[in-house]
Amino acid sequence: MTETFTGNFTQQEPIPEEAIEAALAVLRHGRLHRYNTAPGELGETALLEQEFAAQMGAKYSLAVASGGYALATALRAVGVRPGDTVLTNAFTLAPVPGSIASVGAVPIYVGVTEQLVIDLDDLAAKLDQAKVLMLSHMRGHLCDMDRLMAMCDAAGVTVIEDCAHTMGASWNGVPSGRTGAVGCYSCQTYKHVNSGEGGLLITDDEEIAARAVMLSGSYMLFERHLAAPGVEVFERIKYETPNISGRMDNLRAAILRPQLRILDQQVARWNERYQAIEAGLRGTPGLTVIERPEQEVYVGSSIQFLLLDWSAEKVGEVLKRCAARGVELKWFGAAEPHGFTSRYDSWRYAPSEPMPQSDRVLAGIVDMRVPLTFSLEDCALIARIIRSEVGAVWQGA
Ligand SMILES: Cc1ncc(COP(=O)(O)O)c(C=O)c1O
Repeated sequence: MTETFTGNFTQQEPIPEEAIEAALAVLRHGRLHRYNTAPGELGETALLEQEFAAQMGAKYSLAVASGGYALATALRAVGVRPGDTVLTNAFTLAPVPGSIASVGAVPIYVGVTEQLVIDLDDLAAKLDQAKVLMLSHMRGHLCDMDRLMAMCDAAGVTVIEDCAHTMGASWNGVPSGRTGAVGCYSCQTYKHVNSGEGGLLITDDEEIAARAVMLSGSYMLFERHLAAPGVEVFERIKYETPNISGRMDNLRAAILRPQLRILDQQVARWNERYQAIEAGLRGTPGLTVIERPEQEVYVGSSIQFLLLDWSAEKVGEVLKRCAARGVELKWFGAAEPHGFTSRYDSWRYAPSEPMPQSDRVLAGIVDMRVPLTFSLEDCALIARIIRSEVGAVWQGA
């Protein structure tokens, strides 16, 4: 009998009851705007920032409207100006180059390796072309952060980390987002905490933190923040920093706080599922599993494998056959952007040179979400389906 999977790849778990209660409390008192607080009250957004900073071991934290907004704010806060160049990954998603374009800057793409991380040799060759690297930990794969930082520090390049897929991950014991000057996270539904939309930014740099707070739209109410620098730092930057409103509200903050408290448990649950799928895929002829370095603690909220050097037609056949059995796979090799998969050469607002080595990798990347609503049995079934369909197409190749 042919097995079929009937689960839903985009179904999240419900919001925890504690978070629902906290949201209802905000709705009942009506003070949703972060600066709308009763005398002596500490608003949910300010508390979220304080707790997230402590959880990540950062001095400062700011909650904002989206992950993409956090990235653009970080770029502005480190001093990127219109016309500047910014290094970033060729393998990432559209909001990353989009954040660079949103500040009038120009992305310079750095290649991707077969481990699905930024190609540090390509980076070395391009480090003199920009003062800032927007490093996207795309699909949760962390590069050798020690080598990357040594290179960037030596070249005087400021690193902003896009941790949309690495909240809860770490490299050599350092939480993702704590190595560069700024770490940016997304709290959008498909990420590791779910407030529908939302973003968080952390830094240890007082001026970056103060500028980010002003940029997000603090209306000179920065003293109400609990995870921001002292007033004297704001005095230095407040007249020269524009208000580009993108604040988080107390409703979203209320539902995020309880979710952050259980992040480690959720990471363990994601990784059980990831490892069940990985074990089922290992050894499939023609399919390359991505080996994870021992320095990396990852969050298996999605899984990738490579069909390296397969023709586009054969990859398409695998996707079609898996879809017919209920398994939704995405491919990063398509010439035209589909859904959330697009390529560096789809972002035509920014010029790009052909990158043959990266094109070879991108043409082989197959990607799948791993929602927590999947059981371990679901994961084993999904792996069996992929294995049999990859096998069938491979043998017919
Ligand atoms: C790699 C990456 N970076 C940044 C973002 C931006 O996050 P948001 O959707 O919260 O703006 C996303 C969202 O999909 C993403 O996948």
